[in-house]
Amino acid sequence: MNIIEASKDHIFIIQSLSDRIWPPTFASILTSGQIRYMMDMMYSNSALEEQIGVLGHHYLLAEESGEYLGYLSYELDYKGADVTKIHKIYVLPSLQGKGVGRFFIDAVGRIAKKYGNAELSLNVNRFNKAIDFYKRLGFEVVKCEDIDIGNGFLMEDYVMNKKV
Ligand SMILES: CC(C)(COP(=O)(O)OP(=O)(O)OC[C@H]1O[C@@H](n2cnc3c(N)ncnc32)[C@H](O)[C@@H]1OP(=O)(O)O)[C@@H](O)C(=O)NCCC(=O)NCCS
Repeated sequence: MNIIEASKDHIFIIQSLSDRIWPPTFASILTSGQIRYMMDMMYSNSALEEQIGVLGHHYLLAEESGEYLGYLSYELDYKGADVTKIHKIYVLPSLQGKGVGRFFIDAVGRIAKKYGNAELSLNVNRFNKAIDFYKRLGFEVVKCEDIDIGNGFLMEDYVMNKKV
């Protein structure tokens, strides 16, 4: 398995992956209206161009034999602290449970360390079973966070951290 850093040329790949991963992940957690709203907010061309070109989000793609398996996005020095924020980590449903997620977290841990960050941090929906994946990899819940994302929608998250 290879890890490739995505450029703006890979935006359509990120969109194709998110189209296949988001609906099954959140169907039992969020309304279809909220899923559409959040996907547009995070994965439209303009949103992804801004994340990659302006906000300093790095997208990693896992690739094997020419097939893309999933993506992780991260931001170094989040809010000026020595923290690497993992904004997104998504693996194709048919490939979950086969080590791709661990491969991503190990890779971003090494990058964080290399750039002098001491901790990984992420938000996860409080009803997402990914919480147990994060716990397995050594993350701990540090707080609860409700985020108003507009249109009457709320993100009901835990913040989870792990030292690198
Ligand atoms: C969460 C996700 C990224 C994990 O990636 P993955 O490739 O499926 O996980 P891995 O196969 O690398 O699992 C690593 C370890 O965590 C464990 N694990 C994975 N998912 C788990 C779960 N839901 N509950 C308990 N343990 C879990 C595995 O058993 C494995 O343990 P081991 O290495 O000791 O055997 C992936 O399942 C996914 O994309 N889910 C849907 C999208 C999502 O919810 N993303 C997170 C948004 S915040």
